[in-house]
Amino acid sequence: MPRIYIETYGCQMNVADSELMFGVLGREGYVRTDDPTQADVLLVNTCAVRDHAEQRVLSRLGELKQYKRPGDVLGVVGCMAQRLGERLLGRVPQVDLVIGPDGYRGLPELIARARGGERAAAVEFKTWEHYEDVPPAREISVLAFVTVQRGCDYRCTFCIVPMTRGPERSRKLGDVVREVERLAAGGTTEVTLLGQTVNSYADDEHDFADLLRAVGAVPGLRRLRFTSPYPTDFTDRVLTAMAQTPVVCEHVHLPVQSGSSRVLKRMLRRYDRARYLDVVAALRRAVPGIALTTDIIVGFPGETEADFRETVSLVEEVGYDDAYTFKYSAREGTPATRIPGAIPNDVAGERLERLIAVVRGMARRKNVGLVGTAHEVLVEGKAKRGDLLQGRTRTNKVALFQGSDAWIGTYRRVRFTGTTGSTFTAWPLEPAGELAVVG
Ligand code: 5AD
Repeated sequence: MPRIYIETYGCQMNVADSELMFGVLGREGYVRTDDPTQADVLLVNTCAVRDHAEQRVLSRLGELKQYKRPGDVLGVVGCMAQRLGERLLGRVPQVDLVIGPDGYRGLPELIARARGGERAAAVEFKTWEHYEDVPPAREISVLAFVTVQRGCDYRCTFCIVPMTRGPERSRKLGDVVREVERLAAGGTTEVTLLGQTVNSYADDEHDFADLLRAVGAVPGLRRLRFTSPYPTDFTDRVLTAMAQTPVVCEHVHLPVQSGSSRVLKRMLRRYDRARYLDVVAALRRAVPGIALTTDIIVGFPGETEADFRETVSLVEEVGYDDAYTFKYSAREGTPATRIPGAIPNDVAGERLERLIAVVRGMARRKNVGLVGTAHEVLVEGKAKRGDLLQGRTRTNKVALFQGSDAWIGTYRRVRFTGTTGSTFTAWPLEPAGELAVVG
């Protein structure tokens, strides 16, 4: 049986898309391998959001080509594949096939053609494509990502995604619910709904509020997350659904990008600073104790020192639990490349460092304040280092603690005993039920 190896870069949707590709190829008799030296087909599922992500893939392709034996196929898929298309074939001679996010159904055919010596790129958008008939081949797990929306109709001026993932389309609510029911029947208890602007989800009859309620009612599901939402798509209906759906977790990743209204306008974000802060307040009213994380870009064209300070002050005002910070990276073909006022790299780098220091300090203060508190964690597996288990709270905090491997996949109560600033050490608490049966 032919063996398939997929290396995944970028966002959670890419992780879900790789599971989909394992599904497409599984139907053709392929088996999965984690060892590229053993693979007959090697795929790299790529990200195009920043230049750095693409450079990493190019150097990785240089390594992977060594594992390519005669007759093997090396392919690049995902957003960088979509963006570069045929150009990638010209640039990396060892690459046999290039497929964008709407073309995964064509993998078996392109692999067959590559075996016949033909190099090809498939980068058409298919606005109907949801891969509804392809069951993703997930590694059996208590956690699952479920794509509910593909593509993006927003036009943030810095962002390549509308060009790599095409127009926005939502799956039918009933199809999503059926998939989650199947997952729950197989033992999955935590689901993350995925979409580029996931809370703008809309099938012909339902909005995101309906989706949260419907998925939240699936028997066996214990935790429901979603990512990434767009700030102004938190309608009152969505906020109420979050508040009234017990499985919805107390964490939202709420990308802000900048704290300066002037910069937000040039980014074509659909809110200003005040409106964003209103959304934060509304989320906190609807879901008390909610943890908030964000994405921030520094060095966007025209960003002044005063604009940057507004970002710093917004971060402090919101008091995020954590933030992902990025230096602006110009993406070919995006509107921001035509905005004057490029920020010199050293200035952007210095702002990034200052922002990271603020974010770290803020996250540390918040987390130090949580030491001593008790939480329910889902035990996700072994920690990367040491002989510890790793669990995650509903608020998305990671805790490391001692325990038996049999706990993996179960929910436990732990008390936080310390923090590195970002993650926690913890002590498992006796399940109340077990104490109650004594005597
Ligand atoms: N440069 C830097 N960061 C970017 N992001 C998206 N496009 C760019 C870009 N051109 C960041 C945004 C987004 C996250 C996924 O990546 O913060 O929320």
